[in-house]
Amino acid sequence: MIESKIKIDSAPVRYIPALGFRSLTPFFDSMQKWGAKESTFKPKLIAQARIQSNFKVLDLGCGTGALTLLVKKSQPSAEVTGIDIDLNVLNIAKQKAAQSDLQINFDHGTAFSLPYPDRFFDRVVSSLVFHHLTRENKVLALKETLRVLKPNGQLHIADTGKPQNALMRLSSVFMRRLEENEDNVKGLLPKMLEIAGFEQVKETAKIMTIFGTVSLYKGQKL
Ligand SMILES: C[S@@+](CC[C@H](N)C(=O)[O-])C[C@H]1O[C@@H](n2cnc3c(N)ncnc32)[C@H](O)[C@@H]1O
Repeated sequence: MIESKIKIDSAPVRYIPALGFRSLTPFFDSMQKWGAKESTFKPKLIAQARIQSNFKVLDLGCGTGALTLLVKKSQPSAEVTGIDIDLNVLNIAKQKAAQSDLQINFDHGTAFSLPYPDRFFDRVVSSLVFHHLTRENKVLALKETLRVLKPNGQLHIADTGKPQNALMRLSSVFMRRLEENEDNVKGLLPKMLEIAGFEQVKETAKIMTIFGTVSLYKGQKL
């Protein structure tokens, strides 16, 4: 796996691309469809976020825009923004939105230094991004998310989680070594949400995929 490097605000920032290697980015959407059960967990995540027509919604680490487009389709009047550190995936996301005639803002930036004012979004959603971030950057990204959420705003995350049975434990033996997955597989994300300042933190679902357990989480800004 390779960490790519970009410059944001003239400082170099390292990140892990969608499938670990930049050359695999074109295969990301297919992998998501057949391997990660995205057609199960992404609609579930959107349903739990209860997005209203007047909401501002941020998709953190939007990648090729699969979740971002689903959010916009689920609530066409909502103002939807996707942000990602990787310009390659953002270009794919922009093309997909244009082909579907959907008005979505796509921004280039990093999860731990978001280019938005305080108390701006009603919801932040994020899918399969936190296992790309180091422990320190997970907490920084969560604090940034809290900052850009309005009071009573909510964060909804889908990401790798603690295995719920023997089959998923077997799959996690390999997966926990990939990217920055270890803390996710140990089930530490809820604790990190609390450390960042979220309240009413809950793991709301666990879904079996060939890449291991994908958990859904929810946290509230009071
Ligand atoms: C596995 S992909 C998931 C993409 C998308 N959320 C989805 O579910 O289809 C992880 C994404 O996180 C992005 N990413 C990694 N580090 C990031 C960071 N520091 N800030 C913003 N995005 C980041 C990667 O560029 C990649 O697009």
